[in-house]
Amino acid sequence: MEDFDFENRIVSPTEIMGDTDSDNPLRPRSLDDYIGQEKAKQNLAVYIEAAKQRNESLDHVLLYGPPGLGKTTLSGIIANELGVNLRITSGPAIEKPGDLAAILTNLNEGDVLFIDEIHRISRAVEEILYPAMEDFAIDIVTGKGQMAAAYHLPLPHFTLVGATTRAGQLTAPLRDRFGVTLRLELYTPEELARIVTRSASILGIKIEPDGALEIASRSRGTPRIANRMLKRVRDFAQVMSDGVITLPTAQIALERLEIDELGLDANDRRMLSAIVKFYRGGPVGLETLAAAIGEEAVTIEDVIEPYLMQIGFLNRTPRGRCITKAACLHLGYHLPSASDGQIKFE
Ligand code: ADE
Repeated sequence: MEDFDFENRIVSPTEIMGDTDSDNPLRPRSLDDYIGQEKAKQNLAVYIEAAKQRNESLDHVLLYGPPGLGKTTLSGIIANELGVNLRITSGPAIEKPGDLAAILTNLNEGDVLFIDEIHRISRAVEEILYPAMEDFAIDIVTGKGQMAAAYHLPLPHFTLVGATTRAGQLTAPLRDRFGVTLRLELYTPEELARIVTRSASILGIKIEPDGALEIASRSRGTPRIANRMLKRVRDFAQVMSDGVITLPTAQIALERLEIDELGLDANDRRMLSAIVKFYRGGPVGLETLAAAIGEEAVTIEDVIEPYLMQIGFLNRTPRGRCITKAACLHLGYHLPSASDGQIKFE
């Protein structure tokens, strides 16, 4: 079996160095500049306006959806629109209850605290978060035995913005404490083309509309991938022609990067092929598939599968993962006739 490398690929939706610097100029700063996610954006605009009118902190917000869709960006926009500071941390970075207590006590009135991967906070940290979210207070116990003392510490009113790939990964009591829950969806190619065009203009890259659409339609619904691809295609356009990203330069560059017309790279194709070759197209259990391709089940579920399901290449069934006819045709497999009994499509 060949080695898989899902992390260091251009189509990885997870962050790599340089993507998410807080001074990233591609990051929109206001809701007006933010393209796509219309439903989430429109509702959020109302909640922000209402909180501002009442001079209150915004209710806690839970953002969920596949990686790379702009959860950190949205938290920055929320803070900006509210005119408050943003403090960014993540579930795994908060090791002890004291770490969270230190962050919370340093917030100013109305501030936004963004906790990425909030499903990964520990139980002990979660216990601190409940009263902090609900009553804007923390209870701290210091010392032991006779020296023990309990303090009830009031906190400034703040807005917690939590991000996770799946809302179902959160414990029910934590989920219940968010007043607003927004689901982010994969972007359409048209939305991504607008994002690519906007990014190109910020970076001073010349791009034609069909060049932008070509990058967009190979970016798996994910702005982070589209922006990364834009920078790589620019390199090819610069070295191979006059620097303008046209449809042909985009096509040649993406071919060199081994990213096909649908945005699948060699790793996706190998995973889909593995389902065909080893499991006759499925159903195959997630864990079995994960072991077969040497990848973690959660990565397959949260990172690889959403796009494959969106384009109708993969189905999740109660008995396991099944590849679709469309995927087989895309991969160039000869479709067995019904009598072969090889691959049964649902
Ligand atoms: N850059 C990354 N995501 C974006 C979005 N949703 N809108 C505009 N620019 C972006």
